[in-house]
Amino acid sequence: MKTVIKNIKSLVQVEDKARKFVRGKEMSEVKTIDNAFLLIEDDKIADFGTMDNCPNADKEVDAKDRMVLPTFCDSHTHLVYAGSREIEYIDKIKGLSYEEIAQRGGGIINSALRLQQTSEEELYEDAMQRLNTIIKYGTGAVEIKSGYGFTTEAELKMLRVIRKLKENSSLTIKANFLGAHGVPLEYKNNVDAFVDKIVEEMIPKVADEGLADFIDVFCDRGFFTVEQTDRMLNEGVKRGLKPKIHANELGASGGIQVGVKYNALSVDHLEYTGEEEIQCLLNSNTMPTILPGAAFFLNMPYAPARKMIEAGLPIAMASDFNPGSSPSGNMQLVLTFACVNYRLLPQEAINATTINTAYAMDVVDSLGSICKGKKANFFITTKIPTLEYLPYSYGENKVYKTFLNGKEVVF
Ligand code: NIG
Ligand code: FE
Repeated sequence: MKTVIKNIKSLVQVEDKARKFVRGKEMSEVKTIDNAFLLIEDDKIADFGTMDNCPNADKEVDAKDRMVLPTFCDSHTHLVYAGSREIEYIDKIKGLSYEEIAQRGGGIINSALRLQQTSEEELYEDAMQRLNTIIKYGTGAVEIKSGYGFTTEAELKMLRVIRKLKENSSLTIKANFLGAHGVPLEYKNNVDAFVDKIVEEMIPKVADEGLADFIDVFCDRGFFTVEQTDRMLNEGVKRGLKPKIHANELGASGGIQVGVKYNALSVDHLEYTGEEEIQCLLNSNTMPTILPGAAFFLNMPYAPARKMIEAGLPIAMASDFNPGSSPSGNMQLVLTFACVNYRLLPQEAINATTINTAYAMDVVDSLGSICKGKKANFFITTKIPTLEYLPYSYGENKVYKTFLNGKEVVF
């Protein structure tokens, strides 16, 4: 079955040869073809070019002068969760910090208690709703973390929900085991004992059941130390899980270095990134990933994205969709935050949310750009005047239709 999308005003983020990611100066280039067609065969991109070479197909879709972009890859979310945390949001407005809320038993601990009491079915239904919403905003692939379980049983429950989402959603989904997301109250004075439990009990079970692609640790001040992170990543890697970690959100935690040591796919957050961390990342295959929604929502310092790009690094940007620090999975807002708060050019922001996040979630061979042979995941925009209009016009949905696996997603 062949489908052709014709009369595309601009076909954006095209590649003749698939790249792994883009870094430094390359980040400001996004290749586009004006007055274009896009040919899909089954679920794959078969061809593209200018309208003078537009082929025949079984089905035609007239883009009527709208733009086409590859769908966003959202490489960092916690979108399986129970309830919401708007009451803590009020505490934050009144002046309490994220860490203070966590120390009072709020934050991640609050979400964990609620999740333990919520059934697998309810978690699945709520998460599926969230997935459908992000598809409407142009996301085509998403990584989802566990980490609101705290007990082995509840962590496995979360990961089974993610497995069911993988089976039933048209999104490409990767599962990340984040057993070390917070410290349960009963382990408050003996965090090492909780780490023992993760290493000896949780990781083996998760790996045996094949429930996760990745392993994650919140390596930061007040959460898990570099030594504890080292132990957990070591065990995870032995059992075939690829590392991706939370690092340097609350302080210069050493998280970036330990992530690079384990050849992590990505290190995420990075508000506290200095020269030493930049040098370490430059000698690595690890994708520095910034989460603009979390820094915005928690009113935190912004990661030095410009400095990192100017040093020659690649940058990825993801939503961090979660009930505490970023209750939105809208990647179009991430584009706007990227430009306003991190001074990225619109083209840099597009690279940061497509090809570079595809690398950060290990799907760049099949997603992240418009390239022959890649999966046909793309969206048609509303009628927008320029590409720059995407981050400029914030708060309104500029996605007209989303296609996943070669088919329009209809709700
Ligand atoms: O990525 N930093 C750690 N974890 C999440 C927050 C999760 C929560 O507050 O529920 C984050 O921001
Ligand atoms: Fe996170």
